[in-house]
Order: sequence, then structure tokens, then C-alpha cells
Amino acid sequence: MYDNKKFIENVNYINLHNKIKRKEARILIFGLGYVGLPLAMGLSEEGYEVTGVDVNNEKVSKLLNGESYIIDISSSKIKKNIDNHNFIPTTDTTVIKNADVIIICVPTPLKKNQEPDMSYIESVVDLLKQYIKKGTLIILESTTYPGTTEELIQKEIDQLGYVVGEDYFLCFSPERVDPGNTNFRIENTPKVIGGTTPLCLDLACHIYNTFINKIVTVSTPKVAEMSKLLENTFRSINIAFINEMALMCDRMGVDIWEVIKAASSKPFGFMTFYPGPGIGGHCIPLDPMYLSWKAKGYNFYSKFIEIAQEINKNMPYYVVNKITEALNVAGKPLKSSKVLILGMAYKPDVDDVRESPSLEVFELLHRKGAIVDFNDPYVNYFEIFQNKKYSVKLLSENIKTYDCTVLLTAHKIYDYKLILENSSLIVDTRNVFEEFSKSNPKIFKIGNSNQEFNFNNLKNAINQ
Ligand SMILES: NC(=O)c1ccc[n+]([C@@H]2O[C@H](COP(=O)([O-])OP(=O)(O)OC[C@H]3O[C@@H](n4cnc5c(N)ncnc54)[C@H](O)[C@@H]3O)[C@@H](O)[C@H]2O)c1
Repeated sequence: MYDNKKFIENVNYINLHNKIKRKEARILIFGLGYVGLPLAMGLSEEGYEVTGVDVNNEKVSKLLNGESYIIDISSSKIKKNIDNHNFIPTTDTTVIKNADVIIICVPTPLKKNQEPDMSYIESVVDLLKQYIKKGTLIILESTTYPGTTEELIQKEIDQLGYVVGEDYFLCFSPERVDPGNTNFRIENTPKVIGGTTPLCLDLACHIYNTFINKIVTVSTPKVAEMSKLLENTFRSINIAFINEMALMCDRMGVDIWEVIKAASSKPFGFMTFYPGPGIGGHCIPLDPMYLSWKAKGYNFYSKFIEIAQEINKNMPYYVVNKITEALNVAGKPLKSSKVLILGMAYKPDVDDVRESPSLEVFELLHRKGAIVDFNDPYVNYFEIFQNKKYSVKLLSENIKTYDCTVLLTAHKIYDYKLILENSSLIVDTRNVFEEFSKSNPKIFKIGNSNQEFNFNNLKNAINQ
């Protein structure tokens, strides 16, 4: 497939290839967050010298003290790699001039108008333009719209008079890390790589091959960029579909959870998704918007993406309606009722509140006059209305003081029996209480309107 002569003739390629093989290539990672830090650990564990640059002073100070801020990375691992001089965290961006391989893992958020915010990648590209030396391999890992590697990086570096695939090497390789997932980590999750030329691809494969079990190569960076967006858009759309089914079941008086359990017994042609209070994290709510924005530039309007976004974004409003309904059955108005939210993180067993639907539910309840508190074993506080709101203790006497407990994130660590026994009312958005009590009139599940039953039996249940 490759033109072997070109491989042999390219001195820049041969030099970097040898350095990678001998683990002498100096690797620089931009952005030490959920993506960059595990990658830095993976490569430094393999014996490479990895410099990690982050603009956040607090994060770098923690790392220099051997302290982790990412739930899946232990402090001892960081300390070990720093002590071995295999990992060097810094805020000094000029270290870029010493790097042989540069991997970009900076954020790709949305602007207020829901358009891609490329400023983080652009600031790294500005540095590349100032400091890049011949023979450098650049890999973009940040999730972004198809065409970014070519349009934002290659075009800019080419303007310096450098030729891609000869003077420098360029790839896109999306990160698939799933924070909190103990079964799949970087090493055993196949890695997709798209190179601008075969030589670019070959060098990136050599780097990732050292610590990742399976590499999946594609023909261009654009295919790799698009594959990441396909994965996350697929999730967003399927979650939206099951959320809509939950709303439909609620209206029709059918239990969505029982329906899903039955449908999941089909051994082929069905994939299980569950409803919930909405979608969160840095990926699923954002990535499809990158794709639909770019597609509009081609006069292509993705209806699926927009509809999924609308349904998922409306789920917190539905949850608040459910809470209002539950309180109403108990004869209480939402205004001035005390509501305890369980789970601020966007998914179980992690501490990440970015884009978490719990934030929206909290704010909506607050605006409607409820007195809202939260508990999250992984989130000590979050910021709302320029204030810090702290997690309250989850003790039986404390739970009893609330008019309604709302389960938004099903952390494994929760003592669900204790919560059930001490709550006056429960709104369950994850169907976790079913295991402890079937048909309990104080439990209101999303995706199952059972108001009449709750109404007729709640008084008896409370008096028991
Ligand atoms: N979090 C995930 O589960 C996940 C999974 C796959 C892909 N991604 C993608 O990976 C990228 C990074 O996501 P993340 O979750 O690691 O974000 P993050 O916010 O956890 O980490 C990004 C880090 O980059 C730093 N940073 C910002 N600008 C910088 C600059 N100019 N130079 C150096 N550092 C800079 C920030 O301070 C931050 O520490 C995003 O594009 C995201 O969509 C994330």
C-alpha cells in the first residue's frame, strides 16, 4: 500500500521513526484533562519522556505535588512517573520547541450561540506556527468537526513553507475514553487514526502501538474526525429516542422500564438504552452540534441531530413536572417545598458536572421557589448564581426533613434502602428503587405515570 521508496528517502521520517522505536522521542501533550492526563500516563509508563502542558496553574501544581484530580488516575501513578522523570507537568507553553511529537487534547466547547468554539485549538496552532521544527509529528485528539485537521492545522503550517508528510507529520486520532469505566481503558479500547499522508499515519501508529492493543487506521483525518462524531451522535439520538418513548409511556400509562426489560431479551437487532433526566458531559451534548454546524456549511440540515437535541434538552423540564406532580399528590405546592437532589455528576461514579442535567433541574426548581439541596459523594460543591452550593450529608434524620427526594444520578455507592426508608416522596429518574420496593406509592418514576395509584395509596403509606 505504501510507497516504500518514499519511506526510506525521507530523513525526517527516518529520524522520528528511530526516536519513537528507541523511546527517545520527546512527547508533548497540550491539555491535561480527562483525555490528556490518562494519555500522558499511558505514554510515560511506556518509558517515553512526556511533558504535559496545561494553562490551569492549579492543575499543574497538583500534578507537581503528585496529586491526581481525575477519578480514573491514581495519585501514586502520577508521583511514580514524575519521580522517574517520565512525566513533566508545566504551564510553560514554550517547551513546545523541544518536542518531537505534539498531541493536542484541549477543550472543544460550544459558544453561547451553540457554534463550535475553536479558540483552544487555535491558541495551540499559534504556538505551533511560532515554534514548530522540521520532523515534528502533530496529532489532534480533541473532538471536532470534520475538516479541522486540514483547515485549522495543515493549512496554517503549510503557509510557513512546510510540506506535510515531508517536513512535518499530521494526524487526527479521536479519544474514546469513558471516565469511570473500569472495563475499558485507553489500552484496551481500539484507537482510530487518520493520517494526512501514509508516513504521518505510520508514525502515529508506532506511537500508539506501544501501549494500545488495537489500532484502526482510516484513509484521512476527516474520516477519523467524522467517525468520532458518528459514535457520539448515535448515542445522543438513541438516548433521545428512548427519552421520547418514556414520555409516550408516561402519557399512555405503560411502564417504560418494564418495556425496555422485555425488548432487551431479544438477542439480536436491539440495543438497550435507558431514559433519564437528560444528557451531560463534555461529549454527547456537544459533539453532534459540531457536526450539524459543519453540515450547514454544505447546505445540509440534519433533522435527527436537531430533534435529538430538543428532546434531550427538554428532559429536565419533564423531571421538574414529575416532581411537581408528586408533591401535588402529597398535597404540597412546589413553591417552598424542600427538595433533595441525589447526584450532581452527569453519570454514575464520576465527579464531572459539565453539562450535567442535574444543574438544570436544580436551577429550574430553585426558580420555581423550591428550597433545593443536593448530595453527591463525588461532588463537594458546584457553582450556581456566583455562589458555591455544597453537598449535604445523606443521613436518615437529614433525608426525613425533605418533602421530596429526587434521584438523578445512580451512583453505586448510594445506600438506596436508607434513602427509600427515610424519604417522604421519591422521584426516581433511573428506576433504581424498583429493586427494593415494587409498587410503592411514594415512588414516582419517570416513564410511568401511575398517579391514580400513588394518590389512592400514598396516605396509607405515609401513615404506616
Ligand atoms: N471527557 C471525555 O470523556 C472525552 C472523551 C473523548 C473525547 N473528549 C474530547 O477531548 C477534548 C478534551 O476533553 P477533556 O474532557 O479532556 O477536557 P478537560 O477540560 O478535562 O481538559 C482540557 C484541559 O486543557 C487545558 N487547556 C485549555 N487550553 C489550553 C491550552 N491552550 N494549552 C494547554 N492546555 C489547555 C484545560 O485547562 C484543561 O485542563 C475535547 O475535545 C473533548 O470533546 C473528551
